[in-house]
Amino acid sequence: MCGIAGFIAAPNSTNGLDTVLTLLTNQEYRGYDSAGVVGIDPTNNTLVRERTCDGVRGLAQMTEGSHFPTHCCVMIGHTRWATHGKPSIRNAHPHISEGLAVVHNGIIENHEVLRTFLIEKGYTFTSDTDTEVIVHLTQYHLVWSSHGDLLTAVQHTVDQLEGAFAFEIIAESEPEHIVVARRGNPLVIGIGENVLRGEFYIASDAFALSSHTTQYVVLNDNDIADISPHGYTIYDTDGMEVVREIRTYNMQERTGKGEYAYFMLKEIYEQPDAMRNTLMKSVGVNAFGPHSPRIFEHVEQLHIVACGTSYYAARTAQQWFIDMGIPCNVHMASEYRYSRVLVRPGTLFVAISQSGETADTLAALQKANGSAYLSTLGICNSDESSLVRAANYTFITQAGHEQSVASTKAFTTQLTALRLLVLAITRAKGWCDEDAYMGELFAIPQRMEPLLGLNTVIREAARRYLNVQSAFFIGRGDMYPIALEGALKLKEIAYIHAEAYPAGELKHGPLALIDPHMLIVALVTDDDITEKTLSNVQEVIARGGQVVLFIEQGVLPPVSDSVHTINLGLLPGMSKQFLTTIALQLFAYHVADLKGLDVDRPRNLAKSVTVE
Ligand code: G6P
Repeated sequence: MCGIAGFIAAPNSTNGLDTVLTLLTNQEYRGYDSAGVVGIDPTNNTLVRERTCDGVRGLAQMTEGSHFPTHCCVMIGHTRWATHGKPSIRNAHPHISEGLAVVHNGIIENHEVLRTFLIEKGYTFTSDTDTEVIVHLTQYHLVWSSHGDLLTAVQHTVDQLEGAFAFEIIAESEPEHIVVARRGNPLVIGIGENVLRGEFYIASDAFALSSHTTQYVVLNDNDIADISPHGYTIYDTDGMEVVREIRTYNMQERTGKGEYAYFMLKEIYEQPDAMRNTLMKSVGVNAFGPHSPRIFEHVEQLHIVACGTSYYAARTAQQWFIDMGIPCNVHMASEYRYSRVLVRPGTLFVAISQSGETADTLAALQKANGSAYLSTLGICNSDESSLVRAANYTFITQAGHEQSVASTKAFTTQLTALRLLVLAITRAKGWCDEDAYMGELFAIPQRMEPLLGLNTVIREAARRYLNVQSAFFIGRGDMYPIALEGALKLKEIAYIHAEAYPAGELKHGPLALIDPHMLIVALVTDDDITEKTLSNVQEVIARGGQVVLFIEQGVLPPVSDSVHTINLGLLPGMSKQFLTTIALQLFAYHVADLKGLDVDRPRNLAKSVTVE
């Protein structure tokens, strides 16, 4: 979703514009439909604003050498993922209301009611966004309903807002303050290293701040903070002053693209280490939290909830639990949160999220916390996320910061976590041969290396399919969820319409779409249904489809001019789904890259989806 940035320091101490632009660049993966900044010009205490639809780089160009005062020491900025109102300058944040300016991440659900109220009070709206009500309402409280200072005005505004938000607001009348508030969406305050300059930073996540400081505090839900060069004060939902822990960011998380053209390719290559780290940090009976075995002993079944790639991790693992005699239902979080769910005694609820900030997944977890589950468990890649705070038990994957919008190493570490969960539950029940199981898991990272060695082969294969409009990904049994994830990758970054089908289902409709323009990506591994899958591939060949066959060594591929075969080598036991996933990640990456697309920043998407 949107990224918000802020900076405050003692007057004339430093270049505020550069700081805010860097903070925005650091979180452009949250959205990049438009960008904007607003600061208080210290020469006359008035707001100055710039907005663009050309991203943060465009914003930097616009402000460079222009009238924009770079020495503003009170400044807020925004990089947008559009929800209300199309990407345009008029809808770009910051939004202004007579001497006040706001940037916001989230959705104000009662914006229509508030808009009507404010129009009646004489306010004029200049955008289609829900956000604009925040700034007008605060202006109303500050100036017209005489509630005092900016902080008090924001407290009154927050009382009237419904929905999810993290916002920052500045006012010409209080040029040494930034007031911030959060409910549902993340917000962190960075503490500058130079105390004399009184520098504080604001961002949507700690990673964004880490270019400037390692010290930060995470605001709790419903916190409001008043920040000035003299310090910051945090107030809880009752308006009482509260202290939030100062944390230190682990700088090892901060890395550039290195030799890689895109973060996605780098992150694909990081998977062996990411999986190893996840395995290494998870040894021990309490890997899922203190006393988790006491809970796991009583697990009779599982409900797993997630979105996007995390959802496909859950779909992949579903059969692993069933194979161990543990019934497992998997739900999309956006559906789960509004559906009636039967919770039988002994059901463990599991939420999976790379970011731990996905709005639907958090809402699902909240619902589960209030239901009759045995307990709730969060599997997450961020140990400071809302998900981790809300779940009873947690497992932190060790993928490291994932920057590309399309998720890769987070997925394979989620699979690792789920494999470990199978082990943890069955061990608690006394069902498992732990040594053999861990031996197989620890062998996988090494097996990933030869798969990554297929990079050039897969790139050459990808080159043949740059003009296809549609693709089916097919697989059977444990390859079907991997086909789902592979199709998602292709559509996300290469803009090719892609669907996954269990290979045996093609004849019940999708075959009607097969012609020479249709690409079929088939996953064929050596198992007891290999021949069945190959027959389905033959059905496609007979109808003129183009086939890319990702095949396990030892399986005889069909001979046809329309088939391009990529031999994945041996895919033993548990490694199979991990390794085929990597092949499909590389395939999608190369199609997108060869099409000249911005692989790390696919259109219309965002990395962290903090709205419904
Ligand atoms: C967005 C991202 C996906 C991600 C999904 C769920 O759609 O673009 O890559 O899989 O959100 O995110 P989460 O952080 O909850 O895993």
